[in-house]
Amino acid sequence: MFKKGFIMSILLLTILVLTGCGSSNVYTYIIDDSYTEYITLGTSADYPPYEWPTRVDGKDTLVGIDIEIAKAIAKAEGKNLKVINKGFDFLLEDLKNGKVDFVLAGMTPTAERAEQVDFSMVYYEAIQVVLVKTVNVETYNSFDALNQSTIRVSAQLGSIQQELAETFTNAQKQYIQAVPDLVMRLIDGQVDAVIMEKPVADGYIKNQTGLSIAPITIGDPDGGSAVAVKKGDQALLDSINAVIADLIDSGKMDEIVNEMILLNSN
Ligand code: ARG
Repeated sequence: MFKKGFIMSILLLTILVLTGCGSSNVYTYIIDDSYTEYITLGTSADYPPYEWPTRVDGKDTLVGIDIEIAKAIAKAEGKNLKVINKGFDFLLEDLKNGKVDFVLAGMTPTAERAEQVDFSMVYYEAIQVVLVKTVNVETYNSFDALNQSTIRVSAQLGSIQQELAETFTNAQKQYIQAVPDLVMRLIDGQVDAVIMEKPVADGYIKNQTGLSIAPITIGDPDGGSAVAVKKGDQALLDSINAVIADLIDSGKMDEIVNEMILLNSN
């Protein structure tokens, strides 16, 4: 009897530890010592320079363009910031369930997503590119060159890049959760092409040898990222739009972007 209960509690503990540590990480940022409340951001920190994990003063934390914008939003709300880090494909569910108050994750405000959540104005524009090995850049020089049954095109699970990958109807497709793992597979030769936003590709090209952008145009040339809030959360959305407009008009947004691109290439 005792044994059974003991085993059950060990099992339960294991499950708690696994779900606690495996799927999400929580980080806090004190914006002002006088603030008593927290606003919670959902993000997927696998996408430098938008957001990625790093160590600052010996402590694990998240940095990036989106984290800086989230801090400005928290400040405007008079709250400290809590960040929940998860797989990109979980973010909209967490927002709909009220686990987070807003989402910044280099997220493209698509019509399909806008049926589930409300989006702010676009805060940062970026185009889509195809990252390949430099040795292949001359061969993979057109859509048709990649749209072959021998080619493995990959993208992040639940991203707009997954939809773009689907347009390579003849190619093999691989969708996985974390972008750094996609790039590892590209380097290892397990996939041939990875679709991502250009600033992210630029970072990998700078930090790794042997990677290049294929000379292929893909996706929306006017694409960009926006902040998501729960449907109908108009007060928060208005405040977020005011923060974004202010960051853009003051030139602070450009500063943040340049600073984070630089930080990512060290
Ligand atoms: N912009 C793309 C999308 O909305 C990809 C975003 C990926 N973001 C991330 N943090 N991994 O689907």
